[in-house]
Amino acid sequence: MPKSIPSRFFYDAKGSDLFEQITGLEEYYPTNAEIALLRDHAAEIAALVGPHVSLVEFGSGSSRKTDRLIEALPALASYVPIDISDAALAGAVSRLRSRFPWLRVMPLHGDFNAPLELPRSARPQKKLGFFPGSTIGNFTRDEARDFLKSSRSLLGPSAAFVVGVDLKKDLDLLLPAYNDRLGVTAAFNLNLLARVNRELGGTFDPSLFAHDAIYNETDGRIEMHLRSLAAQEVQVLDDVFAFAEGETIHTENSHKYTVAEFQALARSAGWEAREVWTGDAGLFSLHYLTPGS
Ligand code: SAH
Ligand code: AVI
Repeated sequence: MPKSIPSRFFYDAKGSDLFEQITGLEEYYPTNAEIALLRDHAAEIAALVGPHVSLVEFGSGSSRKTDRLIEALPALASYVPIDISDAALAGAVSRLRSRFPWLRVMPLHGDFNAPLELPRSARPQKKLGFFPGSTIGNFTRDEARDFLKSSRSLLGPSAAFVVGVDLKKDLDLLLPAYNDRLGVTAAFNLNLLARVNRELGGTFDPSLFAHDAIYNETDGRIEMHLRSLAAQEVQVLDDVFAFAEGETIHTENSHKYTVAEFQALARSAGWEAREVWTGDAGLFSLHYLTPGS
């Protein structure tokens, strides 16, 4: 049975910090590409959605990109960042409260795959959902459809949803984004083993594993793995895991879409694909969805 660890476990305090470092890497184009799209289209998004909305963000992390929307949305009623990483959420909330003292920030710490309840005071307003970063690409296509369906009922019938989705592209650009020269992505991947050691008393020796990031053409996704450099046994809690040399732990999928593929997926989950922005370079896409009739 192939070994795997769900990618949500990347994000302890150290992992969230390493992810922020990844966003500053020359090779990791998605962050800058999406920030440029938000800079160029935040006013248009604000005009489409209208005033007095409550902004609900899934996987908000540092919430750095969100500043563009917060600044553009007229009479924004509240901001609900949702994240599994306590550390990232706490950092974002304190930064936002000092940068936007007028803004009602109501963080939700938890798993966005679990049933969620929005804070009571955010319930009456129209919702603008925001799911940036192509975190939706970390789901399989079936999981992404399920998530889009459940977010449609969470956000309500008058909502709009802005989703950032990384696009299929030349492997010369794609592969370096997950195999950076400074080895930050490798450290992000290997931190999973250190986290198992810290939190579950695991006996992993991270120096006996290597970071792999490959493109799986069939599934249209980058896969990250941790490859055992030797035959070895590792204990975690009461279990012993045996690894053959070369065996891997699959740690992340990062699916890439064409605009048409993502729009079809959104439609199959009950959303109408209203606008899409990709910018001149066509590296990344920002979708504006509304509930389908
Ligand atoms: N939105 C930011 C961060 C993206 S990194 C950006 O675009 O740069 C992905 C974020 O999603 C992390 O902050 C991580 O902690 C969060 N995350 C991953 N899986 C999650 C889950 N199942 N539930 C809630 N948050 C999750
Ligand atoms: C958060 N997520 C969309 C990132 C991605 O590109 O899949 C996480 C990441 N993994 C390696 N580098 C960045």
